[in-house]
Amino acid sequence: MNVVLLGPQGSGKGTQADMLEERLEIAHLASGDVLRAARESDTELGATVRRFYDAGELVPDAITIELILDSMRRHMAGGVILDGFPRNLAQARALDAALAAAGQRIDAVVELAAPLDVVRERLVGRRTCRAQGHIYNVVTNPPATAGVCDVDGSELYQRPDDNPQAIAKRLEIWARENGELTRYYGDRGILHRVDADRTPEAVLEDAVALLGRLGARPVAEG
Ligand code: AP5
Ligand code: MG
Repeated sequence: MNVVLLGPQGSGKGTQADMLEERLEIAHLASGDVLRAARESDTELGATVRRFYDAGELVPDAITIELILDSMRRHMAGGVILDGFPRNLAQARALDAALAAAGQRIDAVVELAAPLDVVRERLVGRRTCRAQGHIYNVVTNPPATAGVCDVDGSELYQRPDDNPQAIAKRLEIWARENGELTRYYGDRGILHRVDADRTPEAVLEDAVALLGRLGARPVAEG
């Protein structure tokens, strides 16, 4: 099964995708993770990604589409949960074409809905694990020891785009692009909305139930 998660920054796409990956045994592919890795490289590509990423701007399609689809092709055998991609119609069309070429399609698009004042607060409090990108929040999901990842012990840091200016820019871009994406998937009858202004566990249960009805096979909670 191939799933796309939509929703504003801070709605919980990464948080839910990590948990869905375990419950559904479907690989989680986050465009932000792929671009954060590219951002670290000491190359012209790395410098370009840094410039856009750090300002909260979308990285140009020509770079993003190639990097994400390349990564997706390596994961797609068992299906994929896409988080952060696509973000505009050009990306959605490129994704459809890549899946069609492999005899696949998007089975479900889940839009995580949460008010903008709620997501802004969450982003300011987010801390991210340096080693593997595990997601915390100083208010809603603190680690056992401040500044240290519960899972792998690595340092927790504040993402360079989690500052007020970049957050405002990211949410502005989201507001501009989201309508055409939801129309695109709504017209295909595969768009589903989940209320994400609740605990992560409550959101997860709705998402698992929804995807279960659409054919996913959840594994028992461990
Ligand atoms: P990306 O990494 O995708 O970031 P984003 O779009 O800004 O989205 P976030 O990761 O901020 O939000 P999320 O919904 O995943 O929230 P999370 O689960 O972490 O992209 C970063 C940048 O990369 C972009 O700005 C752009 O430059 C570039 N990029 C990426 N994709 C691109 C593309 N396709 N095209 C072009 N450029 C691209 O949760 C947030 C916080 O809330 C956490 O602290 C979490 O603990 C907390 N939280 C989560 N759920 C709940 C809950 N239910 N209750 C309380 N707290 C919660
Ligand atoms: Mg994310």
